[in-house]
Amino acid sequence: MRTETGTVIRLEDYRPSDYLIDTTDLAFTLEPEATTVRAKLSVRRRAGVAPDTPLVLDGDELTLAGLKVNGETPAENGYTASPDRLVIGDVPADETFTVEIETRLNPSANKQLMGLYRSNGTYCTQCEAEGFRRITYFLDRPDVLSVYTVRIEARTEDAPLLLSNGNRTESGRLENGWHYAVWHDPFPKPSYLFALVAGNLGVVRDTFTTMSGREVALEIYVEHGKEPRAAYAMDALKRSMKWDEETFGREYDLDIFMIVAVSDFNMGAMENKGLNIFNDKYVLADERTATDADYANIEAIIAHEYFHNWTGNRITCRDWFQLCLKEGLTVFRDHEFSADMRSRTVKRIAEVKLLKAHQFPEDAGPLAHPVRPRRYSEINNFYTATVYEKGSEVVRMIRTILGEDGFRKGLDLYFERHDGEAATIEQFIKAFEDATGADLAQFALWYDQPGTPNLTVSSHHDAGPKRFTMTIEQRLTPPIEGAPHAPMHIPVKFGLVSAGSGDMEWTAVSGAEVTGDVIHLREPKHTVVFEGINERPVASLLRGFSAPVTLFPEAEDADLAFLARNDPDEYGRWQALSTLVTRQMKQAAARSADERGEVFDEETCAIFMDIAADDSYEHAYRALCLTMPGENDIAREIGNDIDPDTIHAVHRAASRQLGRFGERIFARLFHGLEPAGSYSPDAASAGRRALRNIALSYLCHGSQDTALAAKAFAQADNMTDRAHALTLLVHLSPRTDETIDALKAFQDEFRNEPIVMDKWFTIQATAPGAETLETVKALTGQTGFSWDNPNRVRALIGAFSAGNPTGFNRPDGEGYQFLCQAIGRLDGANPQVAARLMTAMRSWKNLEPGRREMARKAMEGLSARPRLSRDVRDILDRTLA
Ligand code: PHE
Ligand code: ZN
Repeated sequence: MRTETGTVIRLEDYRPSDYLIDTTDLAFTLEPEATTVRAKLSVRRRAGVAPDTPLVLDGDELTLAGLKVNGETPAENGYTASPDRLVIGDVPADETFTVEIETRLNPSANKQLMGLYRSNGTYCTQCEAEGFRRITYFLDRPDVLSVYTVRIEARTEDAPLLLSNGNRTESGRLENGWHYAVWHDPFPKPSYLFALVAGNLGVVRDTFTTMSGREVALEIYVEHGKEPRAAYAMDALKRSMKWDEETFGREYDLDIFMIVAVSDFNMGAMENKGLNIFNDKYVLADERTATDADYANIEAIIAHEYFHNWTGNRITCRDWFQLCLKEGLTVFRDHEFSADMRSRTVKRIAEVKLLKAHQFPEDAGPLAHPVRPRRYSEINNFYTATVYEKGSEVVRMIRTILGEDGFRKGLDLYFERHDGEAATIEQFIKAFEDATGADLAQFALWYDQPGTPNLTVSSHHDAGPKRFTMTIEQRLTPPIEGAPHAPMHIPVKFGLVSAGSGDMEWTAVSGAEVTGDVIHLREPKHTVVFEGINERPVASLLRGFSAPVTLFPEAEDADLAFLARNDPDEYGRWQALSTLVTRQMKQAAARSADERGEVFDEETCAIFMDIAADDSYEHAYRALCLTMPGENDIAREIGNDIDPDTIHAVHRAASRQLGRFGERIFARLFHGLEPAGSYSPDAASAGRRALRNIALSYLCHGSQDTALAAKAFAQADNMTDRAHALTLLVHLSPRTDETIDALKAFQDEFRNEPIVMDKWFTIQATAPGAETLETVKALTGQTGFSWDNPNRVRALIGAFSAGNPTGFNRPDGEGYQFLCQAIGRLDGANPQVAARLMTAMRSWKNLEPGRREMARKAMEGLSARPRLSRDVRDILDRTLA
């Protein structure tokens, strides 16, 4: 475990590597506890570098078993080797030379799941960001691109399957029941994209013919017996390949594309060249075991990893500060893909909800950082919502500013210029500027300034001169001391909605640049004047969430209600309703307990019901509109002095109020939307289920009775309906026999299906109330719980700490103590997952004073431990600072 702290890596310290590695030949002899790795590197000194410059290779927990330079064993004093470094001081004078390194690994003991490890008997690797250095000594940095040839030897019985990147060039039998395969990847790549898989797995095969007519073999590897559950992933893969050709002109480049599903994985999935490795929960699905949300995630993540082939692999990152160059762009691409596969507005609303739920709090708290960070002490802690999600929003804004065509031209130029290179954000932006002539200098601040800008708006209409004036101010409060906060270029999509409905036209506008339906804010304050406006419009601002900002609309409730009903823009209607509802819930939380029964006014209830009953809307859209903001969303709006119990009470009261108010409509929806025909995971069918299930929720809340949910649980013929009904039972009537029986039935059926059992753990961990902590503690001792499996840890402990505000934030602080102890325990084995869990504390400073003190104590207790990993130490120090 790397426990040292204090080394901070800074963007401004970037220097190109003194040495490059043109080719990398690896030979693996796989043994569960004693694997040998022989690496032969052809090293080249970069032009201009002094010949006596030592070659410094990265390592992590390595032992050197052999070393040769240009075929000779170097003198003892010609090199020094430690677990984390190999320094060859005595380098040949020639510009190029070879280095041969032998290392020995124990994949079975590797619980960090970085480098080479075993998951369920399958050998696999994870090298991003700095895992390759756990396999061999190397220049483990993304700007060192090398051509890999990989030979794998294993016992045929243990590992009939031997995979690596690129194309298989050779394979055959060896003596004593061993065999081998050789893989060659012709595309130079950084070490973080290296992958190896060996084991005994089932496969699903298909083919894809690319736009230039080449046939690509597609293979998805899963546990034997699970092949049918990979069908949806395969379909999503083929659709992704086609979409990337049609939308961005990007064609796949190898003869084979493979995906392997493993059950122990720290993240979602990994884009290794030609050999993606996935957390199996993002591959496996059928109606019995996966929810509609699981299907949507699989589609998105399969696409995401595939899209990385161009945005990430063909063009990679110069250094880890540029992580958003590949991640922000690739998230944007997968968002667009899903929007095209499903309903665009529904997809956008879901994205905005996630952004606000995960990225906004990150950007407002002690873990805030720019989309492109300038320093880090542990890079693994920067795979964040800010880099990914806000990174994607920044790309989206570039498209909004340049328009569809300009955006495509810029991206084409970026691919053309930088293919085969390790690039920077500056080069990315320059491509858009050069392709379109636009000036994106001010815009580029989005990459460097942390925090969510606030927009405040006020307006008035002058009937005489027929003039509408809107004053918009932007302000960025630096979330961390000393962060830059200059005015930014913010594209605001808008419409001026007239009382008679429809967007109004204006004859002239001044005070800001307006192109089409976009106002370009650049100054701290703009007074935008529209001429030729006969009557007072209601401004619909930030349509499609055109910028990741917080909008403080002056709008009265009446104006928001008007927009919720009349905005011609569908997204705008949802946004207005959501703002209105959040505001009224927040107001209810400020009232005393006995004045909080009626959370919403009549008109708001009526809007909800009119949308619920309006069959001209898609089911999925109606379901989203009917979904109230969550307890964490309300907490975020309130901002500080948070009492989670009050918010929970408001949430419950609001659900009951709407449930009663809309009983007839919800009953009609619930009974009218009964499953028709067999299950299909498509978006329309999923929307239908979503609407029916939300109707069921309101019926249960309104009547304070879960009999209907119990019936729905028993009758459900798919996991979406089943998990939803079980959640209602466990969250609304945890102690009834019906609930206990349902939990038991679920467990009996899925005992041997880990990714399904994760749902069982999560549903229980998120049951509101202080007592849940006892349940969670008991569940950690349950057979089926494992500290070594990241999915399971997240399903129980992650879900409890991030998704159970009343349970986790128990006033006695026991929730915080439990989390910190769990982190302490996990840290020895898997620091990455431990550090990720710690982020549940990121908003602790917003709690009311009692809980804040409890949270601090728990974190200080953890901080006092002597041997924390760099990962946890980094998050803890920043959170407490
Ligand atoms: N690069 C992966 C992705 O976004 C995420 C990842 C990071 C996976 C680090 C593993 C380790 O697609
Ligand atoms: Zn990615």
